[in-house]
Amino acid sequence: MLAVARTRTLARGSIALRAVSTWSSVPAGPPDPILGVSEAFKADKDPRKINLGVGAYRDENGKPYVLSSVKKAEESIRASNPDKEYLPITGLPEFTKNAAKLAYGEDSAPVKAGTIAVTQSISGTGALRIGGAFLGRFYPHAKVIYLPVPSWGNHTPIFRDSGLEVRGYRYFDKKTVGLDFEGLKEDLRNAPEKAIVLLHACAHNPTGVDPTPAQWQEISDIVKERQLFPFFDMAYQGFASGSTDRDAFAVRHFVKEGHQIALSQSFAKNMGLYGERVGAFSLITADAEEKARVDSQLKIVIRPMYSNPPLHGAQIANTILSTPALYHEWESEVKGMAERIISMRERLYNELTHTHKTPGEWSHIKSQIGMFSFTGLSEAQSVGLAEKAHIYLTKDGRISMAGLNGSNIDYFAESVARAVKGDL
Ligand SMILES: Cc1ncc(COP(=O)(O)O)c(C=O)c1O
Repeated sequence: MLAVARTRTLARGSIALRAVSTWSSVPAGPPDPILGVSEAFKADKDPRKINLGVGAYRDENGKPYVLSSVKKAEESIRASNPDKEYLPITGLPEFTKNAAKLAYGEDSAPVKAGTIAVTQSISGTGALRIGGAFLGRFYPHAKVIYLPVPSWGNHTPIFRDSGLEVRGYRYFDKKTVGLDFEGLKEDLRNAPEKAIVLLHACAHNPTGVDPTPAQWQEISDIVKERQLFPFFDMAYQGFASGSTDRDAFAVRHFVKEGHQIALSQSFAKNMGLYGERVGAFSLITADAEEKARVDSQLKIVIRPMYSNPPLHGAQIANTILSTPALYHEWESEVKGMAERIISMRERLYNELTHTHKTPGEWSHIKSQIGMFSFTGLSEAQSVGLAEKAHIYLTKDGRISMAGLNGSNIDYFAESVARAVKGDL
């Protein structure tokens, strides 16, 4: 709609209208780096095209995958003839209880004590945003958050928009294409006391590089020494190893060590509920009275943001988490997705090294974890793959392993080999 500026036209003695849009000085923002890749992919008409940009699971035929446990949960929800009433501000209570159990483990001390303040969220992004807003309002020390470098691209704007100062700690070593553990430890030791530190619980995005259990124990010790506040982002529970318990190691270890953590959970990847937007945010509190105070403030943070969360996804996730037969089926489906990705890693490594004799060291393709691989391809090579081979990945050389399958992996490996040899 146009706003209208008035100018007096003396000659005709009447009021003339000069149209000047209210938004004429809004600068164009840069396109989202990941969604921009999908746009370019859509526009490409070549039949060989491959989209490795977006972090969504694809089956062996390259198609989006709706889990059988999800379909069955939906059938049982439909059969129960549910209404469409509003959820409470913090969501479906059974869902949040079961989500916390999944993350922390049934026998975790705060689960048993009932001291976890938890709210449903608009998937992982919403959980991070609620957490950022809560910390921005109530964290009693300097509101500084340390993110791994690199991190998921949305972390910085989420926490900056929440009013936190964003800083980085070293994480990825370009030379080894692995964890810069010494750099990480040094940066956390040098962080100001009580700073907030964001940790990817498993399947680090974008690098695919996770600390080992022994390294997590060392990180926990440093976090304790420096009295840092650990905020875990767990967007891929089950996706890294195929086991939801194994992937929760870091979270559970920190809790066992007595850290009062914050936790963001997403059910986008592990239940394939991307568009349903189902997640949870939780905080460990000291006791029931403190939990009640924290719960009350979480509601005050959420109410003006979106009032209350969507119903359907939470019902699906809760039906799976609370029905033993569906839970077992889901567990094996998560394992199946993780194993397909792991098998693609193995095959890509073999194709690159043995079939195509691609110059360089490629063992990181196999050792990296979860949905993504930081290939080590340069920006020029990544852009070249899009322009000349119709293969779309982010400019930092990150690929979603889930976009590879038996039909496209040979073409992908051959194209990467050509890009590295400079003859695309
Ligand atoms: C590290 C990380 N955190 C959080 C998210 C949030 O995802 P969603 O909001 O779809 O749950 C993602 C998604 O890619 C992610 O990679």
